[in-house]
Amino acid sequence: MSSNNNAPDSTMPIDVVIMAAGKGTRMKSALPKVLHRIGGRALLQHVLDTAASLQARKAVVITGHGAAEVEVTCQSATDFALEFARQEPQLGTGHAVQQALPHLADDGVVVVLSGDVPLTQADTLFHLIAASGGNKLALLTLEMPDPTGYGRIERTANGEVKAIVEHKDATPAQRAIHEVYSGIMAVPATALKRWLARLDNNNAQKEYYLTDIVRFAVTDGEHVVAYKITDAVQVAGVNSPVQLAQLERAFQLSVAHRLMEEGVRLADPARLDVRGDLSCAHDVNIDVNCVFMGQVNLGEGVSIGANCVIANAVIEAGAVIHPFTHIDGEKLGVTVGAGSLIGPFARLRPGARLAAEVHIGNFVEVKNTTMAKGSKANHLAYLGDATVGERVNYGAGSITANYDGANKHRTVIEADVHVGSNCVLIAPVTLGAGGTVGGGSTITKDTPPGALSVARGKQVSIANWSRPQKAPKA
Ligand code: UD1
Ligand code: CA
Repeated sequence: MSSNNNAPDSTMPIDVVIMAAGKGTRMKSALPKVLHRIGGRALLQHVLDTAASLQARKAVVITGHGAAEVEVTCQSATDFALEFARQEPQLGTGHAVQQALPHLADDGVVVVLSGDVPLTQADTLFHLIAASGGNKLALLTLEMPDPTGYGRIERTANGEVKAIVEHKDATPAQRAIHEVYSGIMAVPATALKRWLARLDNNNAQKEYYLTDIVRFAVTDGEHVVAYKITDAVQVAGVNSPVQLAQLERAFQLSVAHRLMEEGVRLADPARLDVRGDLSCAHDVNIDVNCVFMGQVNLGEGVSIGANCVIANAVIEAGAVIHPFTHIDGEKLGVTVGAGSLIGPFARLRPGARLAAEVHIGNFVEVKNTTMAKGSKANHLAYLGDATVGERVNYGAGSITANYDGANKHRTVIEADVHVGSNCVLIAPVTLGAGGTVGGGSTITKDTPPGALSVARGKQVSIANWSRPQKAPKA
């Protein structure tokens, strides 16, 4: 998130209006457009984050299509007042902002944002607000090689902003202009109210254009300023799945660069996906095609192999996560202790709490289980609802039968127990410290400390056994 270092000196309060009522027809989706995600967060959530880093006094979100769903998504914690204004029907961007006017006090500067433009940086908006100086209409603009579809910035011979002309209303000469309006403006609330009262819909789209207020300002003899940037990503909107994917890559690349600046070594910054919050200590290595979701913390020297998916987990210093490992702590979280070795092909589920130097090998699933220092389950096993002591060795193919069809029960495996291969531990059950369970046992009763427990059919050998023969053909 951007810093607030460039906050304008002006003490004028900032109120944000976010237009989010449009249908997003080109997404061809039942989900309202502003709820599609980039980096695991709704487009609108990114815009709200930006509003928060502006230290806005309030944000008014204009909703329409999918209003109820959009409003619910916004209700997460924000440290400014969040208000909604419904726009029914949607008659254009000017009409949208008109719906916000009853929510806007006269003493503020209003920053107009779009819910489908997610990657604008707070610093850019601080510059825009500074350009408005609290008393002018300021437009965020940029030069586009292909300006098709955008509103063009028309200037007078001496370079003053004269009007915004929408693409559909523009003459060929106006269409040749490459400077476009980004859809983002800063404007004093009183002036905004005055100009919006004069809107009409005499244009190609029969819509009330917010962009018409530029003409009104000029007519009123007021100076309109343009703050021009060069970073197109900051004003890029999402109108289609292709644009959504393009912005996702742009966003991920910026996350990758930030991580590398912090010292993280990425095998390939183009093959990383962070859909949440990834925090890394020094000397972390991440191989290709890893996905991080929710809150993930990687300790010093942690190494993540290729093709891992890791969500809601704390991986402590020096742990190695081998390729193709899936970790998802969901609400309970997962902890992997220092120096542990996990995978390849391991699965850690919610409530897996591994202490230091635990080894979890291929095709091992661990759920709601604590494993003390140095315990190992290296092959093809399941540990669910278990408490495992130090230095336990849990054999290949063994499982805790934790579910009786109605309730879950715990398995306690005390320190230094060895569980052989292919055992079934029927919970609730406790294996006493230092004991051994013979391979192939089905354990239904507690085992005493130090004992060898075997629970399987005894092996029998019958000497000189002759196998059945097929009867000769008649
Ligand atoms: C708008 C600008 C155009 C600019 C472009 C930048 C106008 C008239 N034109 O055009 O100059 O170059 O953005 O991307 O403002 N919305 C509502 N209610 C409505 C209509 C739209 O809430 O009635 C919302 C949309 O959901 C969207 C935003 O306003 O979030 C922009 O609307 P959109 O229709 O995409 O405007 P553009 O035609 O792209
Ligand atoms: Ca648009």
